Amino acid sequence: MIIAITNQKGGVGKTTTALNISAALALMGQKMLLVDTDPQAHSTISVLNDPGCFSKSLYDVMMRQEENIETIISKSTIPGLDIAISKISMAKLEPSLLGEIDGHYRLREILEPVRENYTHIVIDTPPTLGLITLNSLVAATHILIPIQSSYLCLEGTDDLLETIDKVKRVANPELRILGILITLHDKRTNISKDVVKRIRKVFGGLVFKTLVSKSVKLEESPAYKESIFTYAPNSVGAYQYRKIAEEIIQRAEN
Ligand SMILES: Nc1ncnc2c1ncn2[C@@H]1O[C@H](COP(=O)(O)OP(=O)(O)O)[C@@H](O)[C@H]1O
Ligand SMILES: [Mg+2]
Repeated sequence: MIIAITNQKGGVGKTTTALNISAALALMGQKMLLVDTDPQAHSTISVLNDPGCFSKSLYDVMMRQEENIETIISKSTIPGLDIAISKISMAKLEPSLLGEIDGHYRLREILEPVRENYTHIVIDTPPTLGLITLNSLVAATHILIPIQSSYLCLEGTDDLLETIDKVKRVANPELRILGILITLHDKRTNISKDVVKRIRKVFGGLVFKTLVSKSVKLEESPAYKESIFTYAPNSVGAYQYRKIAEEIIQRAEN
């Protein structure tokens, strides 16, 4: 699978989910690649001890200034997980690709030579529906949509679903929604409970059975360059992301 973690809203748990499901699948013995397409490079910074020592990033490969994608893939601090690195220079990518006739297809093209090296590839995307996210949807086989358990959480989902439909029609008919993941859930508040009910009512079986609770451990672990599974193996967050990884495998088989 090539799983794009997508929602054009920021702060909904895309990067946290990308890191921890990649780590969970790696722990299950799968060879994993995490592709960081966000110019903010939070995934990259969270799993490399010295991100500054790379002079190139996905930008250079997508712009065809660097031929070999392996030069921007590194082992990460998480066992079994490699990372294709982003840098702030990724912010120049969208304006640079705008006039290119194959501008939407670059990520798919550059991942092709390494696809066979990995069991699964996870793509972390920026909080926009711009060209970088479109590249990710064209390259992906599956999409995972994190939705924050909060008031207004469904604002914007129509635009996202419309974009997914458009990509399916025009460029990637095989693209499937793997699931919708409720994140940052606070079970103490009534509004959170209502929101979960509403999300499950709107999206039914598309929603993962397991949700992700708000947890300080999940917030802390990237600062130590660790996944939740080594940072706090007995935490609720570790339990939940392990369950979600199991659901992902089940869903992929159906
Ligand atoms: N389940 C969670 N519990 C607590 N904090 C979380 C959780 N998921 C994400 N966060 C924190 O919320 C912020 C936004 O999450 P992030 O994964 O970076 O979202 P996005 O990539 O969608 O912008 C980060 O500071 C992150 O550490
Ligand atoms: Mg992010």
